[in-house]
Amino acid sequence: MWLIIKILRIFPPEIAHKISLTLLFFIHRLGLLNIFKNEKQSETIEFLGLRFKNTLGTAAGLDKNGDYIDCLGALGFGFLEVGTITPRAQAGNKKPRVFRLNKDKGVINRLGFNNKGIDHLVTNLKQHKYDGVIGVNIGANKSSHGKKRIEDYIECIRKVYKYTDYITVNISSPNTKNLRNLQNSKNIDKLFVALENEIHTLKIDKPIFIKISPDESLDTIKYIINKVQNSKITGMIATNTTTDKSTLKDEKYWDYEGGLSGEPLREKSNNLISEIRRVSEEIPLIGVGGVMSQKDYKEKLDLGANLVQIYTGFIVEGPGLIHRIINK
Ligand SMILES: Cc1cc2nc3c(=O)[nH]c(=O)nc-3n(C[C@H](O)[C@H](O)[C@H](O)COP(=O)(O)O)c2cc1C
Repeated sequence: MWLIIKILRIFPPEIAHKISLTLLFFIHRLGLLNIFKNEKQSETIEFLGLRFKNTLGTAAGLDKNGDYIDCLGALGFGFLEVGTITPRAQAGNKKPRVFRLNKDKGVINRLGFNNKGIDHLVTNLKQHKYDGVIGVNIGANKSSHGKKRIEDYIECIRKVYKYTDYITVNISSPNTKNLRNLQNSKNIDKLFVALENEIHTLKIDKPIFIKISPDESLDTIKYIINKVQNSKITGMIATNTTTDKSTLKDEKYWDYEGGLSGEPLREKSNNLISEIRRVSEEIPLIGVGGVMSQKDYKEKLDLGANLVQIYTGFIVEGPGLIHRIINK
């Protein structure tokens, strides 16, 4: 496995990602992923009315279009979050837009929601064989501004709610200009009104999470927690990537644009999980950011996350990490 990871590192990160998922797809087709089967698969966890195979899931971005649901599911994850998906397909930002930070065990990405659009994802959701929990992470198109941005989230909800177990409203990507402004009180008020109207109209009874950034002020976070607690929105996902590169050992990357993930994000993300738990012990919370080992995973649960997600750790350490985390 290490040899494959080493060879893949020869390629630029975005190409390596595509090769890895394609390889995984074919290995799964050949029925060779059974070695990753979770030995404790019979012990499911009930949370928000859903049955999770275990508390480790994929974070958004790993499978943006739901093209790899069955093979990722076969690796032993307890749940999968696909997306971010937007109403219309879009190409994302100019390449290169993903950077491997070997010294820091991190990644900087400025992909900008490259995806094939909600209709493509819905087709995949209707066809997969994976029987675990799937969440869909939704976003707004780059070309949508003002009111249209909120309408994009609503359009995605309308199209996807029947085919997913939960929905994540992503308002924290740093790579779509001004998207993070949706976290400001005036904008989030408008967003919540629109979301609640839709939940009411369509009688949606599936959990809806808000994914937040680790770069907001404590006041903003407290405002969002309060909004979630007093609305039909279920819970929060903390956190997305950070734009703060000041902790990086490799100074070369200090002024790179994009969101930083992996080890350098962990402390920031954990601080926010603790902060949320200080304000509310009950709010359903998914912790994500910098899980590179079983210890990091456990730390998030100990801080009060109900579920944990992983992205960068999975691509740095390889699929063996899932096994090491969930079978311990
Ligand atoms: C290449 C890349 C693409 C990502 N794309 C998305 C995305 O489309 N939507 C989203 O909500 N988060 C996205 N993220 C953020 C992750 O879901 C996660 O919140 C973040 O990377 C922290 O977790 P990690 O340290 O385990 O990677 C992306 C992260 C990376 C590295």
